[in-house]
Amino acid sequence: MYCNTFGRFACRVFRESRFQCPMNKGQGTMSKRLATWTSCKHYKQFLERHLSNLKFMGVATRLVQHVRTVSHSTLDPAEVRKFQAMANKWWDLQGDFAALHSLNDLRVPFIRDNLLNVHSVHPISKPLAGLRILDVGCGGGLLTEPLGRLGAVVLGIDPVEDNVRIAELHASHDPVLQDHVQYRACTLEELADEEEEHFDAVLASEVLEHLADLDTFIHCCHCVLKPGGSLFITTINRTQLSYVSSIVLAEWLLRIVPGGTHDWDKFITPVELERLLESSGFCVESLRGMFYNPACGAWSWQKSTAVNYALHALKQRAEPQQDHIQPESDGLDASAHTDGPHQYNIRTAGRDTHTHTT
Ligand SMILES: C[S@@+](CC[C@H](N)C(=O)[O-])C[C@H]1O[C@@H](n2cnc3c(N)ncnc32)[C@H](O)[C@@H]1O
Repeated sequence: MYCNTFGRFACRVFRESRFQCPMNKGQGTMSKRLATWTSCKHYKQFLERHLSNLKFMGVATRLVQHVRTVSHSTLDPAEVRKFQAMANKWWDLQGDFAALHSLNDLRVPFIRDNLLNVHSVHPISKPLAGLRILDVGCGGGLLTEPLGRLGAVVLGIDPVEDNVRIAELHASHDPVLQDHVQYRACTLEELADEEEEHFDAVLASEVLEHLADLDTFIHCCHCVLKPGGSLFITTINRTQLSYVSSIVLAEWLLRIVPGGTHDWDKFITPVELERLLESSGFCVESLRGMFYNPACGAWSWQKSTAVNYALHALKQRAEPQQDHIQPESDGLDASAHTDGPHQYNIRTAGRDTHTHTT
């Protein structure tokens, strides 16, 4: 039955590829058309739309994930050019990145405290000792360095080579960072090919709003994290208020950041992000609103996530294998013996309260 269904589906893929995909208007062989289409963004959307009706979702999911991993880049060349032009400004405390420097007052304790909730406690001076952290889109290392000082081994990656050069140079002035901080100019997709399930935590702070493909990015975060590992995100909501504060005020009027830094269409609401994370194998633990006061240049936590927010999610552990469960062992629910879904439920129950603004 599956063969017939798959056969019909394959015919339909071919038929629709010929008439619907904008990249396939010219004549060509079927293999050429399919090869071209593999790199077409619509292919993944098409697969997701049509495969959701099929019964063999395992095959469908693997197909979609394959297309995701081989075809998509998170890089937006315009964003790369933008950050290339600002690369020498990272460590100017009063400059274009001043707001990111002061954001450390919230995000460093947020990351530290959430990691300490998940992992065992170490001496106060090095609370994150023994943890491997990946800082994706690290820029000049503004967040990478303080986490290295807390004892973690942190790898900062950024697609802009000059950012990485500046970050390395700055870290070289502090001997404490020598064994704790490393940098590499590459994309997350490239790293995900090499470092599967390698990190205890992944950070993407003020990065999501600069990507070409968020699905691929989250998928790669999942790949590089160990099961049960933490994903930390700070980003900007897509609301009318965020348009006024992050673009009109911050860029045009107060010039806190250069004009054109943000594209409102790329902002993501907490609800959209939670949905994407949960469908990608994460469970969201904590979501908190943040507020930037331009008068004093300081950040504070607030209930509303209408503009800026911070999120912590955990990579779910694998479901226990069906054939490992022994039903008549002791009368207890088998899931109680695993720290997979059981732990997920406990953590979800203990999740921070928050106000959603979509
Ligand atoms: C607003 S900065 C944030 C820097 C750093 N995370 C911080 O908060 O201090 C955004 C960074 O994302 C990087 N970036 C742009 N596109 C990226 C991509 N596709 N993958 C990873 N990083 C990217 C930029 O080069 C830049 O360094």
